[in-house]
Amino acid sequence: MKLLERVIKNAQEYQKRIVLPEGSEPRTLRAAEIILKENIARIILLGSPAEIAQVADEIGVNIKGAVIVDPKTDSRREAYADKMVEIRKSKGLAKEKALAMLNDPLVFAPMMIKAGDADGEVAGAINATGDVLRPAFQFVKTLPGVSVVSGAFIMFVNDPHFGHDGILMFADCAVMPDPDEKQLAEIAVTTAKTAKAIVGMEPRIAMLSFSTKGSAQHPLVDKVANATKIAKEMDGSLKIDGEMQLDAALMPEVAKLKAPDSDVAGRANVLVFPGLEAANIGYKLVQRLAGAEAIGPILQGMAAPINDLSRGCSASDIVNLVAITCNQAAAFEK
Ligand code: ACO
Repeated sequence: MKLLERVIKNAQEYQKRIVLPEGSEPRTLRAAEIILKENIARIILLGSPAEIAQVADEIGVNIKGAVIVDPKTDSRREAYADKMVEIRKSKGLAKEKALAMLNDPLVFAPMMIKAGDADGEVAGAINATGDVLRPAFQFVKTLPGVSVVSGAFIMFVNDPHFGHDGILMFADCAVMPDPDEKQLAEIAVTTAKTAKAIVGMEPRIAMLSFSTKGSAQHPLVDKVANATKIAKEMDGSLKIDGEMQLDAALMPEVAKLKAPDSDVAGRANVLVFPGLEAANIGYKLVQRLAGAEAIGPILQGMAAPINDLSRGCSASDIVNLVAITCNQAAAFEK
């Protein structure tokens, strides 16, 4: 897979520091071994050093070279707690509570990023999406001008006629259950940035609906049409069109009939779904029934790269997501 090879090669150059909060989880340790051996990133494992060493020993992996940090005893706890109190001043977070929260590696990891002690985080092999995301939302927050974090998938389909040589981006498949029109517009704009930064493609964004250019009238259709207008206002350079149905987005012959004047219809490479139900079901349909490879979710819109794994992930999924996180971290510097 050429794209992944490039992402890994870039990561080897960037040498970013990636914190893995689930430090004693076996797939995470296996991934850490591969990442270190292949020099993909610098790795920080969170947890009890004794427990991490014991699990590594039991499963026979070599994690020499990883930095191991115990959130319960680390000397930076005081400084991190002060920062947390400052960030959550309006919510009245007390220092004692902040110190207790830091015992949780899923809180300690975003604080490492916030303090400049790590460049990115990958977690979720044994934790639910919400538990990974909540501390990231609360302490790392969103990029300036962005109010919502969303999750994109890179989909590798088996037909190079679709998307960018068989590669498409789908969003938001992971975070916002029911985005409003402004949030949907932001999802389109941030997905375009991810498509450029990670895939290196020129995004052509289809805002999906069950209607194409007014063929149906419904408030849900209006939401997508309005989101398209807002996204254009947010970034006038975007190639974006909607609302449109999936067949109009992907099939040139359908596009000719349903949206003949569109420069996106029939050749879209970024699909923005109207809500999480359609997006999450949609990417899994393409993955399971059409045999597409799905990489993600790549979280976007956050002020630093933090990515969430599926609990069914393999060690190699973790390696790939760490490499992508390194590429995102590098894109932040540009
Ligand atoms: N972007 C930025 N900040 C957000 C977002 C977002 N998308 N969502 C919530 N927040 C912030 C809130 O503003 C709030 O901040 P505050 O404490 O400073 O006021 C904080 O995060 C907590 O907000 P809640 O509304 O209490 O959020 P909650 O914790 O209930 O839910 C969550 C957030 C977990 C992301 C929720 O939207 C969710 O469960 N989404 C679905 C996730 C999921 O299950 N996805 C499918 C599985 S993933 C897959 O299949 C690949």
